[in-house]
Amino acid sequence: MTRVAIVGAHGKVAQQLMRVLYDQGDEFVGIVRNEDHADDIYRFGGEGILLDIETADVDALATAFAGSGAVVFAAGAGGDSGVERKATVDYGGSIKSQTAAQRAGVARFVQISAMGVDDPVAPDATESWTAYVAAKRDADAELRRTALDWTIVRPGALTLDDGTGLVSIAPRLERGAIPREDVARVIAEVLRSPETIRSQFDLVSGTAPIGDALADLTRANDIG
Ligand SMILES: NC(=O)c1ccc[n+]([C@@H]2O[C@H](COP(=O)([O-])OP(=O)(O)OC[C@H]3O[C@@H](n4cnc5c(N)ncnc54)[C@H](OP(=O)(O)O)[C@@H]3O)[C@@H](O)[C@H]2O)c1
Repeated sequence: MTRVAIVGAHGKVAQQLMRVLYDQGDEFVGIVRNEDHADDIYRFGGEGILLDIETADVDALATAFAGSGAVVFAAGAGGDSGVERKATVDYGGSIKSQTAAQRAGVARFVQISAMGVDDPVAPDATESWTAYVAAKRDADAELRRTALDWTIVRPGALTLDDGTGLVSIAPRLERGAIPREDVARVIAEVLRSPETIRSQFDLVSGTAPIGDALADLTRANDIG
């Protein structure tokens, strides 16, 4: 991988991803919305670029992506945010990043989504949860419609536990949890695996080493 552009680079999964990329010797640029966070990206060994994806224009984002081999969309409005920011960050930020990637000529696009977002939401769900699910679902649907070389990673509940390197990956899985460190390792492996282009999968902790789990998925896709 030449250089990876990470949107929402100060996030908890993104920080783990930067560690993996640094250890592999990969270059990365981290897009963040807070000046102190940009300094942190340099401390992680990458280049920090200050851009708020809610207000930045597509050209600014495209300039930040230019020269990268891939974009990873790792941003999210977070659990404490209201309905509006699900639309402007989880959905709008992704769409803007998809457009910017195309404009910058960066074909590879890996999106962190969430498990179960295509399922109907319970009628008693909070407004915020309903908005979150819709934002992730619709951003994924838009990405699938692009000509980008996309992969959509849909993890279960994220934890801060140490990673185990053992996962379960399939188009649909029973609900479960997974350490953010393992999500980051999966994304790093996805970036090295062109066979995962145009695939979408659920991801929870399991029993298979990451490379084997991804190989099984892409073999199943070939057969299907
Ligand atoms: N929590 C779960 O159990 C769960 C499960 C499945 C999927 N997910 C999804 O997985 C992804 C990664 O999760 P995570 O725990 O790493 O999230 P996180 O720690 O909340 O990181 C999200 C990052 O997005 C950044 N961001 C928000 N608004 C932005 C803006 N306008 N411009 C630029 N950056 C912005 C945040 O920046 P600041 O630091 O400045 O706020 C933050 O660093 C998220 O999309 C989340 O929805 C979460």
